[in-house]
Amino acid sequence: MTGRNQSIISEFLLLGLPIQPEHKNLFYALFLAMYLTTILGNFLIIILIRLDSHLHTPMYLFLSNLSFSDLCFSSVTMPKLLQNMQSQVPSIPYAGCLTQMYFFLFFADLESFLLVAMAYDRYVAICFPLHYPTIMSPKLSLSLVMLCWVLTTFHALIHSLLMARLCFCAENVIPHFFCDMSALLKLSCSDTHVNELVILITAGLILVIPFVLIVVSYGLIVSSILKVPSAGGIQKAFSTCGSHLSVVSLFYGTVIGLYLCPSANNSTVKDTVMALMYTVVTPMLNPFIYSLRNRDMKGAMGRIFKKKIPFSLGW
Ligand SMILES: *[C@@H]1O[C@H](CO)[C@@H](O)[C@H](O)[C@H]1NC(C)=O
Repeated sequence: MTGRNQSIISEFLLLGLPIQPEHKNLFYALFLAMYLTTILGNFLIIILIRLDSHLHTPMYLFLSNLSFSDLCFSSVTMPKLLQNMQSQVPSIPYAGCLTQMYFFLFFADLESFLLVAMAYDRYVAICFPLHYPTIMSPKLSLSLVMLCWVLTTFHALIHSLLMARLCFCAENVIPHFFCDMSALLKLSCSDTHVNELVILITAGLILVIPFVLIVVSYGLIVSSILKVPSAGGIQKAFSTCGSHLSVVSLFYGTVIGLYLCPSANNSTVKDTVMALMYTVVTPMLNPFIYSLRNRDMKGAMGRIFKKKIPFSLGW
């Protein structure tokens, strides 16, 4: 340090996960397997939806966007985590850290907005089945996706620019496995009041509003089903909405638990485990939640493999 408080840190150290050294290889294999599953599962969904024209409906196009977002979201943190688990000095350059933070926010928000679009889509499909094709036109669904991208670009940009303004002087150890915004703020030697205020405001807007919209959509769906109870209708609604609701609760449960209910004793272990839940586990489970119990997806898989394999095997 040069003695001036402006001395600039050129890299950060990511402490990673609180894992005993003897378990390191086990966890490395586990995370590698989870990452590969995430990539393959989501990639398969995107390919299936692209190839099968039965699935060119707004619901599946949103799902394909969600898979793309999941794929990117886990690629923001996992490769670096895996690399750092193997290296002696788990460092990340300053610019790399800010970039990681930007894309982390970007894809986390994108996911959250896409879940709102999907909830709205289900709401229209179930509560106004006759008007669904006219309301959910390709134009509206494309506009919704574009709106998600625009909002998330702005949100991630605001936080990254505010972070780039800060000075980091002495401390450069991040007790986390990626460049987490709140961990970075704690290391800064500048005044972080503006950042904290902006985080508070945008966290409210970005997390709470989508969450409320999703809850309201599914609430309206449930009440419209209960008004006209028919065994077939209930089963149909729950088979599509059940999977949506599991994804939503998995994502929001962990994110809200982490950011809106900070632990009293500031335990980093709990924070890291919660962060692992939504950065690693949620993107991995989404494709399975959506496709395993979904007849359309299974049908598409059957059609594509039946079409392709006989030719390739020369039957
Ligand atoms: C995302 O959704 C839009 C609009 O529904 C669609 O045109 C586009 O192909 C989707 N993108 C992906 C990667 O699935």
